Amino acid sequence: MPEYKNVKYDECDNVYEPAEDTFLLIDNLAVNEDMDVLEIGGGCGLVSIHASLKAKNVDVCDINPYAIKCIEHNIKLNNIKNIHIIKSDLFENIDKVYDLILFNTPYLPVETEEHNDDEYSKAWDGGVDGREVIDRFLKEAPEYLKEDGTIQLVQSSFSDNQKTLEILNNNGFKAEITENIHMFFEDITLITAHRSEL
Ligand SMILES: C[S@@+](CC[C@H](N)C(=O)[O-])C[C@H]1O[C@@H](n2cnc3c(N)ncnc32)[C@H](O)[C@@H]1O
Repeated sequence: MPEYKNVKYDECDNVYEPAEDTFLLIDNLAVNEDMDVLEIGGGCGLVSIHASLKAKNVDVCDINPYAIKCIEHNIKLNNIKNIHIIKSDLFENIDKVYDLILFNTPYLPVETEEHNDDEYSKAWDGGVDGREVIDRFLKEAPEYLKEDGTIQLVQSSFSDNQKTLEILNNNGFKAEITENIHMFFEDITLITAHRSEL
């Protein structure tokens, strides 16, 4: 059974398998023990499980029903009690505000004719410019964040990091690239954004 930093997990059919982008987020989680955390797009739950080991509470959602089952399985496997799972398209079924919102986004550009409507593709299909889900997320996330809250988001150089920084910085955040890993043709980027004084 695979394991990352002492957390065991099973991979599940039709669910994103943890990869470099997952580990980039886990390795740089800005979590502390007082925090209420929300992870959007939990996949198999590995990021949320790591966050839950440090945070007060973690809510995790995914649009993919296979991911919801997989997260349930993996939190039982690790005997985690402070994670709540919500099936949701982004914030559709979320009704709280959080200290920290995490999202390893679907960031790959996919031409319309190559778009596939299956559940698995939602893990990486970011529409023609790679930003379809990222832009919706950036528009909606501030409403679900406490005044001094933080967003951590993973995307790639294929989906225009500068645009994400610009949107966040124009909307009351101090946003920066906090980590970067160079892969074959792209950089995988972690952007951390703190809401500054309003
Ligand atoms: C790149 S995968 C990341 C999975 C996991 N967090 C990880 O890091 O391994 C993106 C995840 O976001 C989910 N997702 C895509 N669009 C979504 C949406 N509109 N609302 C909620 N989840 C979404 C996908 O189903 C997938 O599980």
